[in-house]
Amino acid sequence: MVEGFRFLPEYFPPPAQKALVAEVLGLLDENPLYRATMPRTGKPMSVRMTNLGPLGWISDISGYRYGPAHPETGKPWAPIPQTLLDLWRAVSDYPAPPQACLVNWYEDTSRLGLHIDADESAKDAPVVSVSLGSRALFRRGGLERSSPTSSMRLASGDVVVLGGQSRRAYHGVDRIYPGSSTLVPGGGRINLTLRRVTRP
Ligand code: SIN
Ligand code: FE2
Repeated sequence: MVEGFRFLPEYFPPPAQKALVAEVLGLLDENPLYRATMPRTGKPMSVRMTNLGPLGWISDISGYRYGPAHPETGKPWAPIPQTLLDLWRAVSDYPAPPQACLVNWYEDTSRLGLHIDADESAKDAPVVSVSLGSRALFRRGGLERSSPTSSMRLASGDVVVLGGQSRRAYHGVDRIYPGSSTLVPGGGRINLTLRRVTRP
């Protein structure tokens, strides 16, 4: 398997998970979830998303990019919660803070195809991911789309660090296990990924 992948099961205990979900939900009024579209095809993505932090990851018909404002409200993204900045400091081994926290909201039938996170210049920084709510079947691959893959379940409170070689590795979410958690209203899953976009 690819070097640099770290799995920190139940990094956040249930009370901290609850507090984090409440904090993220509280930011959604100003910073609403929206349905992004895929480049070229304009097909809607199966997850709804929003961002927190000075930069947010945006996908639309013209491509993928980072931008300072919500594409629907035109307002700056809300700040990244302190708990997540603390997490980054604790696990990233990186000298500068994250600039983007992508919020992916999975319904029972949502999935995320195999991809690499490739839109950041700071490739030396890891991507740090937090799972909240229903369990997910996460697929880890290698450096090529055709590399062998393996699957693992991600549960609420788990943290994954994609560092080292694994920062450039394919990954995706094959499915959600409906009803496996009641933490997120409606029974879905929230995944938060912290990224450093520009080199410090
Ligand atoms: C992602 O690759 O952006 C999200 C991964 C996940 O939902 O666990
Ligand atoms: Fe990703």
